[in-house]
Amino acid sequence: MNPNLSRTLTAQANEKVGETIKLQGWVDTLRDHGRVTFVDLRDKLGIIQCVITKKGDKLSDESVIEIIGKVNKRPENSVNKDLVTGTIEIDVSEYKVLNKCKELPIPVKSDGYEIDEELRLKYRYLDLRRERMHNILVMRSNFVRSLREGFFEQDFTEVETPLLSMGTSEGARNFLVPSRMAPGKFYALPQSPQQYKQLLMTAGVDRYFQLARCIRDEDLKFDRGFEFTQLDLEMSFVNESEVMSAVENSVKAAVKAVGSKLKEDPFPVIPYDEAIKKYGADKFDLRTEEEKKANVLAFAWVVKFPFFKKVDRKDASEVEESRSGWVFTHNPFSKPVDEHIEWHLKGENIDKIMTTQYDLVCNGLEVGGGSIRAHDPEVLKATYKIMGYSEEDMMKAIGHMVKAFELGTPPHGGLALGVDRIIMLLANEQSLKETIAFPMTRRGRTSVMDAPSIANPDHLKELGLAVNIGEESDVIFVRLKRLLDSEDVKYEVIEHRSVKTSEEAAEVRNTPMDIAPKAMILTKPDGGLVMVCIPADKKLDMKKASAVVGEKLKFADPEFVESELGVKVGAVPPFGKLFEIETYIDKSFWEKEKVAFNAGRRDRSIIMKASDLIKIAEPNPVSKDSDFKQ
Ligand code: AMO
Repeated sequence: MNPNLSRTLTAQANEKVGETIKLQGWVDTLRDHGRVTFVDLRDKLGIIQCVITKKGDKLSDESVIEIIGKVNKRPENSVNKDLVTGTIEIDVSEYKVLNKCKELPIPVKSDGYEIDEELRLKYRYLDLRRERMHNILVMRSNFVRSLREGFFEQDFTEVETPLLSMGTSEGARNFLVPSRMAPGKFYALPQSPQQYKQLLMTAGVDRYFQLARCIRDEDLKFDRGFEFTQLDLEMSFVNESEVMSAVENSVKAAVKAVGSKLKEDPFPVIPYDEAIKKYGADKFDLRTEEEKKANVLAFAWVVKFPFFKKVDRKDASEVEESRSGWVFTHNPFSKPVDEHIEWHLKGENIDKIMTTQYDLVCNGLEVGGGSIRAHDPEVLKATYKIMGYSEEDMMKAIGHMVKAFELGTPPHGGLALGVDRIIMLLANEQSLKETIAFPMTRRGRTSVMDAPSIANPDHLKELGLAVNIGEESDVIFVRLKRLLDSEDVKYEVIEHRSVKTSEEAAEVRNTPMDIAPKAMILTKPDGGLVMVCIPADKKLDMKKASAVVGEKLKFADPEFVESELGVKVGAVPPFGKLFEIETYIDKSFWEKEKVAFNAGRRDRSIIMKASDLIKIAEPNPVSKDSDFKQ
């Protein structure tokens, strides 16, 4: 093959009729007509038809090939109007296989929705070959580039902030990273760059932005990941409308750059109160049915939020954040509106204090949020006082910010856009995962590589860590107790000898078997898990369970249960939600007075009211009338 010939991409061949070119890419389709073989070669720009008359290497679907051939015009009757390269074809003079593709584990030509998620993510590099995913990646790149340019045009400076740092309060749990240099101590991964970006204002950066990776340990949902990307920004010497307009300018330009349509320009501004009255929520969809079909983007601002709310005891991070029962609704670093600063400083009319928060919503999702910040240290301290912090606690949490605010910090405000969510809306997809190259499964496992995974014992020793799961694990027991305590219910903990089954447990507890919910972990065909609880003296009827759940179920492998849930089979408590698993509870428990079950440890049981179990475990409501027993 001619080594001097440089590569031509498929669509570029249109300009090279009559020339001999070199193409490199994948075998998209192969049609063998005996003496002639047609190969559609695919690269990042599309496909091109190549005609092989002199056979060489054996070709197979999705193999990587190199072709040298002459670009010919196609005869009029074989022009393909649907293809960018539909008026030409390549008369192949030489070709070779650069990397042979064996049988594919998943198809790559369909839109992919029909394939099990675990499989799609295990072979994500194949999954991304499909046209739909390729287009999303390209669109994401174009959108982000345009956003970036929009902020550069408005005189912003891009600055990176650390990933290993102290925890931030954005309403989720922190992911911790152990420190080798300080054994027993931990960094937290940032839930957002909130504090650093404010400190950049103290530093005089004036206008900052960053494409920031944020990491939050919170319940995974269609629009929420552990890891996500923000377009994060902060500006000095500004008011609410100046921040909103800087953001709106860049967002509008970027939406247009990727060819999407906006419903309203400028974006409407709706006070929180009015949104609640009109739409019943602070995020809403303003589109008509027709606009939904055309995938128009309906952005709107929501303003005038209450600063504080009563703590939701079910929310672990709110419970941790507040000492007084009051917690911030959005951001502890926000400034209250000017009219309410007096109340704020005095801690009066807490429920009436409004914050300068503004949220950006689009098509029913919150896609951004920000505020003007409390740059006066007294105002920031007052926020923490309202949340019940002592002076000492406060200085531990935010002393570094208070200090900076005593050393010449300009008034400032900012916002962060949820980039993945906006891409999801632009691409008209139903899940964040469709917009991220290597997302996590719904159970928090990584694409392609198998994390989280067990650490090397020597490495753990070096970090001063010991892992405490398995036989004597306290982790689930402690989480279960925390859940029950947050609901204010009475329960009794019994310690007993270690038992292997719920039957044995009933015996050592001396409680009847029929009040012991045996929690079984079952798998669905797509790999998802469900928990079905039946009395310990009964056997599960898999047919009945499958009919209720609406999917063909089978028992999960005990080793898998142990490694996924961190708890031994037989000690799994009937609270699927501790593991993010949907729970079903046999109807017989709805009539029982008490329940007794193994509580995450083989040597601990809990006895409590059956009605409390049903209230807290939140079983799927259909299970009330469902019989899962043989
Ligand atoms: P907030 O927590 O509202 O604000 O985050 C800003 C935006 O990020 C998106 N988002 C998420 N996207 C995917 N997965 C998640 N788990 C997730 N969590 C949030 C949302 C949200 O609107 N520091 C403040 C911003 C500021 O005040 O400047 C912050 O992080 O679209």
